[in-house]
Amino acid sequence: MRKPVVLITGASGEIGHGLIERLAADGRRAIVTLDLKPLAPELKPLVARQLEGSILDTNLLDRILSEYEVDLIFHLAALLSTRSEFTPTTAHQVNVEGTLNLLEFAQREGESHGRPVVFIYPSSIAAYGLPDLETKARAGKVREDEYNTPTTMYGCNKLYCELLGRYYARHYKQLAAEPLAGRVDFRAVRFPGLISAVTVPSGGTSDFAPEMIHAAAKGEPYACFVRPDTRIPFMAMPDGVEALLQLAAAPQRALTRSVYNVGAFAPSAEEIRELVLEAFPGARLSWGHDVKRQGIVDSWPTDVDDSAARADWGYAPRFDLHRAFSDYLIPTIRRRYASGG
Ligand code: SER
Repeated sequence: MRKPVVLITGASGEIGHGLIERLAADGRRAIVTLDLKPLAPELKPLVARQLEGSILDTNLLDRILSEYEVDLIFHLAALLSTRSEFTPTTAHQVNVEGTLNLLEFAQREGESHGRPVVFIYPSSIAAYGLPDLETKARAGKVREDEYNTPTTMYGCNKLYCELLGRYYARHYKQLAAEPLAGRVDFRAVRFPGLISAVTVPSGGTSDFAPEMIHAAAKGEPYACFVRPDTRIPFMAMPDGVEALLQLAAAPQRALTRSVYNVGAFAPSAEEIRELVLEAFPGARLSWGHDVKRQGIVDSWPTDVDDSAARADWGYAPRFDLHRAFSDYLIPTIRRRYASGG
C-alpha cells in the first residue's frame, strides 16, 4: 500500500518554510519534500520524508510515484526573476520543464489512485508586463487577463505554466478515446512580492523590500536598488501561506478561474523605508539605483485586482501595510536577530 501524502517541491525556499510549519501543525497529512537543498534543521522533524534532488530528475519522481499516494502538491520550486535573467535557458528548464514534469507526475498519480490531484502553483505579478510608467499609473489595479505580456524569462515561464496547468486540468489528451482530463485539479495564485520575517529572499526583483528590512534589523547598511517612488504590491508571508492553504481547501465548484490575483498592500519604496526607519531609527538606508532591475519592477503593476479570489474562495489577508510591520515583521525580525539567527 502506498502512503497518502502532500508533496512540496522547492520546500527549502521561503514559502516552503512557513507552509511546512502550518501543514505540520494541522497534522492531517504526512509531508514529503523535494529540494536541491536540505531543509532548515528546525523543519526536519516536521516532515515524513525529505528528498534531496531535482524536479528535473524523472527517475526520482517515478520513485515518489511508486511509494506515495500524493493527492495534494505545492509546486514551489523555481528560479526567481533576477536570477533567471542571467541564465534564461536554465530558468526555462527549471521553471517550465520542471513544472511539466510535476504536472505529468500529478496526472499519473491521479490516474493511479482515481482522485484528482490538487496542484497548487504560485505564479507571480511577473506574469504582467506594462509597457511604460504612464500605462502603469493609469492601469492601477490590474485584472488577471490584462497586460499578460511579461518582459522577463521568469514572467514568461510563469504565464506559460499557468496555461499548461489549465491544459492538464481541462483538455489533457483531448483526442484520446478515453477522457483523461480532470485528474489534475490545477489552481494558481499570482503572488505579489512576499516579505518574510524569518527568511531572506535570493534572486528575486521584489527583494528590495525584504532586503531593506532585514539589513536594518541586522544593523547593516543597505542601498535600495529602485527609485523611492517605485510601487508594486507586497504581502506578508503568513498571508501568502494562508492563501495557498485556502485555495487548496476550496471546493472545486466554487472556482471560476484557474489563476487568481492576490494582493494585500502596495507601498512605494519610500513608504517602506519610512516604516523601517520608524522601527530602526539608526538604520543606514540609501538609494543605489539599478536602472536594469528598475526596468523589471516598472513593468510590474502598482497593484492587483483580487476580487475574484475574495469572492470565490474567501481570500482575506490579515495584514495591511502597518499591521504587517507592527504585528509581524518587526517583532519577529527583532526576535530572530536578537537570538543570533
Ligand atoms: N518576487 C518574485 C521575484 O522578484 C516575483 O515572483 O522574482
